[in-house]
Amino acid sequence: MQRIYADNSATTPVSERALSAMLPHFRESFGNPSAIYSYGQEAKKTLEGARRAVAKALGALGTEIYFTSGGTEADNWAIFGACESKRAKGRHIISTEIEHSAVLRSLDKMRNRGYEITLLRPDKNGQITPAQLEAAIRKDTVLVSVMTANNVVGTVLPIKELCAAAHKHRVIFHTDAVQAAGHIPINVRELGVDLLSISAHKFHGPKGAGALFAKLALKIEPQIVGGGQEKGYRSGTENIPGIAGMAAALTECAENMESNTARLTALRDTLIQNALKIPGVHLTGDAVDRLPGHASFVVEGGRDSAHLIKLLDEEGICASSGSACAASSKEAPHVLTALGYDAGASRGALRITLSHLNTEEEVISVCEALPRVIERFRRMKDPKIL
Ligand SMILES: Cc1ncc(COP(=O)(O)O)c(C=O)c1O
Repeated sequence: MQRIYADNSATTPVSERALSAMLPHFRESFGNPSAIYSYGQEAKKTLEGARRAVAKALGALGTEIYFTSGGTEADNWAIFGACESKRAKGRHIISTEIEHSAVLRSLDKMRNRGYEITLLRPDKNGQITPAQLEAAIRKDTVLVSVMTANNVVGTVLPIKELCAAAHKHRVIFHTDAVQAAGHIPINVRELGVDLLSISAHKFHGPKGAGALFAKLALKIEPQIVGGGQEKGYRSGTENIPGIAGMAAALTECAENMESNTARLTALRDTLIQNALKIPGVHLTGDAVDRLPGHASFVVEGGRDSAHLIKLLDEEGICASSGSACAASSKEAPHVLTALGYDAGASRGALRITLSHLNTEEEVISVCEALPRVIERFRRMKDPKIL
């Protein structure tokens, strides 16, 4: 059976260009970039070239890009590091109820360290307003962290405006751009953000590579210490193949963004329009301000969204209920709860996320399969399907 991969918010296949950029660094050019002989210097050249490429794609300076092991590490670092460096100012952080667990669990840790956390509740579409943010800012607020785009419902948030609201009160602004980078234009200067996290495997780069943009003027405390790599800010021998792959993938996404966005938006809208023809299927997230390839729904009348995912899998369609990390959890996705959906709605959460590799024929197949699968989902009695 031909498989249709439609869970690109969970991860994406590595592009040819990214793979070609990575391969030489496993065996031929395998040196440690800290070494002074030629192998090391070759690796160093690759590292710095990749840094410049990532910086260019984000509108940053090379000196503002720090490589990490992925989005989770970048998010953890932004939160812990910024708070530590602003210790003297206060102990209050503002974020949102719909952040990824990489942010929410970092905030839990800060709460345990005596910080107060205000989590803003978005509207039904997943939006937060600058006025809402400003109202929550206090004299002792040290950090605001709001995601650029939500992984579960695809909503794109007004980061430029939210950042301006934080800056009006001289508060550092971090955004988790893991779902956005490579998919919508990101320019750190235009957005005005101080800190921004990205992850390579979400844009056809390899898993285990990511980056944190930190504005030049901002000094955040290192969290991983050791050999002093990344100018002493993030120790550990650099993942040269991963970093080279990430730079190539991000550059490729930036080059093709306009055409990919136009095509993907059309495919996504076909998917959404067809799904919404099925009674009891509702779109989640913002209908307009949403990621180009992202379609998400709640399907009424089922027992457990895992059944829906399993039934789609039987038809060769790989989709998910929301966050990849929560796929095996029976808990109603916290994002849908924050958006005001009840536990019943969360039991029918469905996320179908496309990439430029998906064809029109694949989208038509998904549209054809959905009514059939949803009917079976609703008739499903056996909770032990998994
Ligand atoms: C919004 C968001 N932030 C952070 C992460 C974590 O990124 P990584 O898988 O690179 O650790 C993810 C991954 O699903 C995500 O969707």
